[in-house]
Amino acid sequence: MNSRPIGIVGETSTPVEITVKATHPVPAGTYIYLKFRVRDPISSQDLIREVVGVIGSVSFKSHTPIMSSTTSSAMSEFSESYISDLKRESYMNAVIIADITNRRAESPRYPPPPETPVYPASREHLVEVYKSSPESCVKIGNLLGFREIDIGVNVNALAKHLLVVGTTGAGKSNFVAVLADRVAQIGGSVVVFDVHGEYRGLQSESPSVHVVDYEAVINLVKTPVDMLVKFIIPEAAATKQRRILRKALSSLNDKIQKIAVENRIPYSEAVKRLYSDEKKRRSLPQLENPTEIYRELLESEVRIRASSDERRYEDVLDKIEDFFEWHLVGLDTPNVSEIVGCGKIVVVDVSALIDSEKDYMLKVVAEDLLWSLKQRRIPPTMLVVEEAHLFISSKTQTWSKESLQRFIREGRKFGGMLVIVSQRPRALDPDVASQVQNFVLLKLVQRSDRVFITEVSDVLSEEYVNILPALSPGQAVILGEWIGKYPALVNIDLHRGKRVGATPNIIQAWRVKLREISEITKTKSPSSEWGDV
Ligand SMILES: Nc1ncnc2c1ncn2[C@@H]1O[C@H](COP(=O)(O)OP(=O)(O)O)[C@@H](O)[C@H]1O
Ligand SMILES: [Mg+2]
Repeated sequence: MNSRPIGIVGETSTPVEITVKATHPVPAGTYIYLKFRVRDPISSQDLIREVVGVIGSVSFKSHTPIMSSTTSSAMSEFSESYISDLKRESYMNAVIIADITNRRAESPRYPPPPETPVYPASREHLVEVYKSSPESCVKIGNLLGFREIDIGVNVNALAKHLLVVGTTGAGKSNFVAVLADRVAQIGGSVVVFDVHGEYRGLQSESPSVHVVDYEAVINLVKTPVDMLVKFIIPEAAATKQRRILRKALSSLNDKIQKIAVENRIPYSEAVKRLYSDEKKRRSLPQLENPTEIYRELLESEVRIRASSDERRYEDVLDKIEDFFEWHLVGLDTPNVSEIVGCGKIVVVDVSALIDSEKDYMLKVVAEDLLWSLKQRRIPPTMLVVEEAHLFISSKTQTWSKESLQRFIREGRKFGGMLVIVSQRPRALDPDVASQVQNFVLLKLVQRSDRVFITEVSDVLSEEYVNILPALSPGQAVILGEWIGKYPALVNIDLHRGKRVGATPNIIQAWRVKLREISEITKTKSPSSEWGDV
């Protein structure tokens, strides 16, 4: 051992957690190595064990009273040697991650004895713990402090879904870009529900990956009728209304599809043709917009099916009216499920929609994907939901929540992987979050957020949670089956092809504008200064 110890094991020690005493603390997240002798009381043999761990919380404690009267100017006159003469000590807590005796990683079983020296871990100590098999893994970064140790995650384990949390600016979206891109690079299919419009124009690291920007609308003809019925009449108890609408939609969509297929024309044209045929038979208003025409045709289909039941007819009509008010319907746009594919990232940009519309759209996307996965019409697909606390909230009921819950529950069997991204984990529904079994924990400051994460994850030791406030952007604790038995502290790779997210350069924008103004005022009278810009 050529490096110096950073401290010694303190008074208490268990196989998985130790306290460390030192004269100087090391940063939280530092990997450590211990070698110690234990006596097996059964065989009376001495065993040498080697373990690696990571420093969690770090603190200083002085054993002499600190004089509060000391002013800062007086302070500067104190020499460093005087301060270090004061009796002070650093206390640290560390998690023991693995026993690496004989260079084979296994769960730690013996507590390191008090006073065992604690060394910084070297690459050789850690490679055994964090080796990943290239076939099923994608690289997401490097072990913190070890550029030479790549950290890969097993994509197959994503069937148990993923939770990504961290404060704004902690690096969530960068992580999503890295994961989405690398998953697509091994042939994966990815859909990103892009709440802020920050993934639009994402440039992949690889020419083999295809990034597709998708305009979010509900296709009236392609969406399965049963799904449309649920959107238009969400109340499951309204069975008679639903039956009428189902028949009306089936009949109308069958006709439209028939005309479109026979004449090889888009649905919007087929709708127009159907309408002009109808107009020959009865008087109908002059309409140009295909979705308005569709609605008119749907209402007459409902009229036929509701026959004499005037009240029910009116009820269904009201619901149709409400539905069309969302303005998120179309006839020729493909469903997301028609665009997804191997080696593709589909970016569903909903940044222009209001929150309730985003919510509705997410429901459409999640149901469409789950439906298609169950029909085996699309390959296993990863759905990333940014700002997930808006949709899977513990307080407010949303359209999308139930669909996402189903996606989590049933997706597992059919290759649907959900990635939940949030900067406010405490606002997430714990029932949903506790079904997720893989985690990326970026910097988290608020105590309530950290408590929430500890509660929903049964694999998280408190010491890892203590590291979270001290992390820098892009540093994360990675946990769960996808990383394997041993959690890792990781420097996530920086994705070069993603536009900068949260923080626009405001001052730069002002400077540019001011320069434009000064250029103009050089040639014009001062009074026109603002009006012409
Ligand atoms: N892995 C990383 N390595 C280096 N810098 C990073 C990393 N992740 C994020 N950053 C920096 O932090 C900024 C914010 O990251 P972002 O992913 O947008 O955060 P969030 O989505 O959590 O708000 C990025 O623009 C980048 O400058
Ligand atoms: Mg973000």
